[in-house]
Amino acid sequence: MMPLRTIVNKVKISKAQKFIYARVFDGMPKEDNFELVEEDIPPLKDGEYLAQAQFLSIDPYMRAYTYKLPIGSTMMGSQVAKIIDSKNPNFPVGKHVVGEFGWRTLTVADSKPGALMRRPPYLVPESEGMPLSLFLGILGMTGNSAYFGFMEICKPIAGDTVVISGAAGGVGSHVGQIAKIKGCKVIGLTGSDEKAQWLRSIGFNEVINYKTENLMTSLRELAPERIDSYFDNVGGEISSLVIQNMKKYGRVSVCGCISSYNLPYGSLPKATIIQPSIIMNELKVKGFLVSSWKNRWMEGINKNLEWLREGKLVYKETVTKGFENMPKALIGILSGDNIGKAVVKV
Ligand SMILES: NC(=O)c1ccc[n+]([C@@H]2O[C@H](COP(=O)([O-])OP(=O)(O)OC[C@H]3O[C@@H](n4cnc5c(N)ncnc54)[C@H](OP(=O)(O)O)[C@@H]3O)[C@@H](O)[C@H]2O)c1
Repeated sequence: MMPLRTIVNKVKISKAQKFIYARVFDGMPKEDNFELVEEDIPPLKDGEYLAQAQFLSIDPYMRAYTYKLPIGSTMMGSQVAKIIDSKNPNFPVGKHVVGEFGWRTLTVADSKPGALMRRPPYLVPESEGMPLSLFLGILGMTGNSAYFGFMEICKPIAGDTVVISGAAGGVGSHVGQIAKIKGCKVIGLTGSDEKAQWLRSIGFNEVINYKTENLMTSLRELAPERIDSYFDNVGGEISSLVIQNMKKYGRVSVCGCISSYNLPYGSLPKATIIQPSIIMNELKVKGFLVSSWKNRWMEGINKNLEWLREGKLVYKETVTKGFENMPKALIGILSGDNIGKAVVKV
């Protein structure tokens, strides 16, 4: 007779839970846009392994990119998962893997990127006791967006005045700290006084609460010499106002435009015209997708790890407990509930 523990384990690993994109978003996501379903786990084939989610990333693109997802698909997303069974020597049992497996508790994966995936799965690098969740944040895609998007496009120079929108989110709070490492003056834009206080505590020189202050007036006061570079996480009117205040030859790194993510795909949201400022100040404005640096992925992670170990980078996470709360956590970041990187702990 099989011992009870084995039976319990078998039952536990025989089915995955996953969220499917069940109903098309209309504005802000709601819980009934998603459905929690169960799926049988098939036996492993050679080259495959079974990964059990530990932490799942919550990112704004999950709202923006769903127009690509057919209804009924597993919601997209990255996770850090523990390998609990394996027929792949490169992904042995007991190790942790970072994979774009979607919103699911258990995944049968191999070495290749799956259908909706941009990067192949990779083992969590040796990192002496760093919390696993960091490999979704400061040591993962979020950290690499900050590192490459800022270093390669804003090209910081000591003494620069740098403005960052979405400053208290995972990417923005990280960019601000890199800008400080590089000797810049950093002005963050955020939507709450609590977030503003945290940003000041981690070294931001100035913070503007765009919900309670007049952004144009505050920018003119805080950056009288105007702005050398702007790291844009939000787009829309906030960005138009920042861009009006750029210096000659200023640089703009366009990372995200969260202010438009809840609008229907293909709609044409309006904001103040920016072309006169771009022309008159000969600005360089460049958008990016962090996947463009996939061949330098570990360089970004290692640099951020080094800064973290040296105490030059600090982080905050908003951790939602329970896989069943994935939809709530996504709604949360789109409502401004998070400070720092948002993750769900299974
Ligand atoms: N291009 C790429 O490859 C790439 C990679 C990663 C991320 N991104 C983009 O970078 C941006 C930041 O990502 P993240 O992971 O740091 O986000 P995050 O940590 O989830 O931060 C989201 C924050 O955005 C702010 N926000 C929400 N709705 C807003 C609105 N309508 N207008 C202005 N601000 C709003 C809120 O902060 P407040 O309370 O301060 O408003 C919210 O807490 C997103 O646009 C994301 O899509 C792009």
